[in-house]
Amino acid sequence: MIRYRNKEMLVLPGVYTPAEDSFLMVEAVLKEVRPSDRVLEIGAGSGIVSAFIKDRASVIATDISPCAVKCAKLNGIDVIRANLFDGVKGKFDLVVFDPPYLPSEERVGDWLDVAWDGGKDGQAVINRFLHQVKDHLTENGRFLLLTSSLSGVEAIMKKMTSLGFIAEEVLSERYFFERLVVLRGRMVNKSRR
Ligand SMILES: C[S@@+](CC[C@H](N)C(=O)[O-])C[C@H]1O[C@@H](n2cnc3c(N)ncnc32)[C@H](O)[C@@H]1O
Repeated sequence: MIRYRNKEMLVLPGVYTPAEDSFLMVEAVLKEVRPSDRVLEIGAGSGIVSAFIKDRASVIATDISPCAVKCAKLNGIDVIRANLFDGVKGKFDLVVFDPPYLPSEERVGDWLDVAWDGGKDGQAVINRFLHQVKDHLTENGRFLLLTSSLSGVEAIMKKMTSLGFIAEEVLSERYFFERLVVLRGRMVNKSRR
């Protein structure tokens, strides 16, 4: 069990134990979510972020890991097993993702590795997410994406801009070896251009 704010979450073996990145995303979500939002969380892990969203708005989640899906379900989250958006129908006002973002040369071994392994530059899963998210957002939809100085915050913001998003830092926290940042992406409003 792990406790954060008013919530106790079960964490099964093989599931990412909520840490500083999870807690920073919870704080960002508490500021961002509106009651009318239809929310999708990608990569729910134990379900800690969705658990806080669920108190404020409707939320469904995905995770590629069967261990995470089982765990998030036990924690009361409506979650399906999926690779990013695969099989997810409909559009969402808010999409939230705390992705695997650590650069790694090693081959992924188990489901716990899948939780942190972001490929050579830390951006492999992030880039796939960025290319797909637009198709799952409502007209004024936005997304929150956790990144780290270890995976190159500026490069990720540039990528967001090149894909037609307005990219903003909404929350950040400095730690001994990295700076964690929550980015918000929203589409450039065509009528204001
Ligand atoms: C850093 S953990 C975050 C977990 C949880 N959201 C939290 O904040 O504690 C990343 C999660 O993303 C999941 N994940 C990794 N690649 C994925 C993919 N392609 N599609 C869906 N989920 C993925 C992992 O299984 C893991 O549960």
